[in-house]
Amino acid sequence: MPIFFSYDILILMKIISANWKMNLTPSQTKEYLQGFLPLVEDIKDREILLCPPFTSLCVASEILKGTHIKLGAQNCHYEPKGAFTGEISLEMLKELGVSYIIVGHSERRWIFGETDELISKKITACLEAGVRPILCVGERLEEREAGLTFKVVETQVRLALSGVESYTDDLDIAYEPVWAIGTGNPATPEDAQVVHAYIKDLLQDVNPKHEGRTRVLYGGSVNPKNAGEFMRMRDVDGLLVGGASLDPESFYQIVKSF
Ligand code: 13P
Repeated sequence: MPIFFSYDILILMKIISANWKMNLTPSQTKEYLQGFLPLVEDIKDREILLCPPFTSLCVASEILKGTHIKLGAQNCHYEPKGAFTGEISLEMLKELGVSYIIVGHSERRWIFGETDELISKKITACLEAGVRPILCVGERLEEREAGLTFKVVETQVRLALSGVESYTDDLDIAYEPVWAIGTGNPATPEDAQVVHAYIKDLLQDVNPKHEGRTRVLYGGSVNPKNAGEFMRMRDVDGLLVGGASLDPESFYQIVKSF
């Protein structure tokens, strides 16, 4: 019997990420990790990423040293150093073992006024620093209702990658519809699938040499009950979880939901 190998299907490592947002102090982080690490000790067939607030990175970095759990930050500045009061550089984050940065989260876009231009500078800085950005994109409710979902997502992706089009394989993208974040009203897995497939086609268009290494994560009201349904979708390569990641048991249930 001949054996056929398919060389053109790239198997991507799935990634389940926690975005704690402005939650959990350093001591609460320590307590969280004491509960979480034993639960996920043997789960090594998927990437597990924790993105605590800046003030918890140090303690998390110490505790996670030598484990398979990855550490990420929720934001960064694009300049390497200097007079930028209140900002955090990539060098500072890298020294703590941070290997992922969430860039352009909708809360940063809509509460703190981050523009596509600023987001593009951050993406470029991350790529230059060798830290993998997770670019967040997603439409607001009024945009969805006006049938603009694809247009909004396309614009956000193209602008974020302007000038670094040839690096599409070096980042991940989180599709987080704004109306689904923190509302208990997630997109349907089928709706997410359609947008994820669209994003993957778009990357091919942005970079004809794209190899398909970009994972597309879904975020927005993911919980232990619905996580597995999202992960069953062909083009859902991971999850970015807010509220339901704040409890170690609940996040563990999400990590092992597929
Ligand atoms: P929730 O999971 O709380 O809806 O938040 C999603 C999110 O914004 C992750 O980045």
